[in-house]
Amino acid sequence: MDRKKITIVGAGNIGATLALLLARRETADITLIDINEGVAKGKALDIMEASPILGFNAHVVGTGNYEDTAGSDVVVITAGFPRKPGMSRDDLLFKNYEVVKSVSEQIKKYSPEAFVIVVTNPLDAMTYTALKVTGFPKERVIGMAGVLDSARFAYFISEKTGISVENIKAFVIGGHGDDMVPLPEYTTVSGIPVRKFLSEEELSEVIERTRFGGGEIVQLLKTGSAFYAPAASILEMVLAILWNKRKILSASVYLDGEIGKYYGATGLCVGVPIVLGKEGVEDIIKLELTDEEWKAWRRSVDSVRNLVEKLPL
Ligand code: APR
Repeated sequence: MDRKKITIVGAGNIGATLALLLARRETADITLIDINEGVAKGKALDIMEASPILGFNAHVVGTGNYEDTAGSDVVVITAGFPRKPGMSRDDLLFKNYEVVKSVSEQIKKYSPEAFVIVVTNPLDAMTYTALKVTGFPKERVIGMAGVLDSARFAYFISEKTGISVENIKAFVIGGHGDDMVPLPEYTTVSGIPVRKFLSEEELSEVIERTRFGGGEIVQLLKTGSAFYAPAASILEMVLAILWNKRKILSASVYLDGEIGKYYGATGLCVGVPIVLGKEGVEDIIKLELTDEEWKAWRRSVDSVRNLVEKLPL
């Protein structure tokens, strides 16, 4: 049986880290493509030279030519510019719009059946861009942010409670910006509500740190943004699709009609709980929110709408 084919567009920090993680799982053969062809080729070769030691048989190839990406089952878009200190994700809007638009045109041409996972920031606006430019069904174009934000929330809770990360199930919805919406009501420590472990003050601290989790890393790195946890988050989404896990996780998806009305975000891509499996977005889970959470959700949706309205789509 042939292995599946995954293309990663952008062989930068996130793209290359993801290629190594995927190769080690032998899930698929991987094509790394970058505007800087040498970087894609060099990193692919470097990963393959690790294969005898780490013991994986998957193939990773680097290229600058979209013909080599043809017939991919999944395409991950990490191409673009990362944040520098002092920049918000939204400052990247127009530069990364051009990148995601041109990449999406190539995906449409060479991999018309692919699932597309968008990672480039500002995430929700770039997911919307990929959806519109490819014209793919909304079930197949998914933005990666909620898994990462929820992982950060879970890690900070683990740190505060001293309980294993394996026991923490945390949930964050909304846009992937500073006004994202962490949901303590839907966050548990081994099934026990998180409020049994943390005071309101401790919880507020953890929520605040989660909202600015990406910025904290940018401040420390100075020359780029986070990549290990983002790559791990993409891996989780790719495996959910390829192995038909039907996993509930938070991701940025297009909201329309009935669901859109419920969330008050019709016509946008925003982070909500979805069921992810072999058909892509197989369901969207409706949550009950408190008044305060609704307020936060609306603020977050408004920020996403403001950005999307600036795009020439
Ligand atoms: N086509 C293909 N590759 C491109 C293009 C393009 N049009 N434009 C830029 N790239 C490549 C760059 O050459 C670089 O190798 O995208 C890569 C981006 O890598 P990094 O700068 O290391 O950025 P990374 O940390 O991987 O983040 C990528 O994800 O989290 C978001 O905000 C982040 O938008 C950024 C993206």
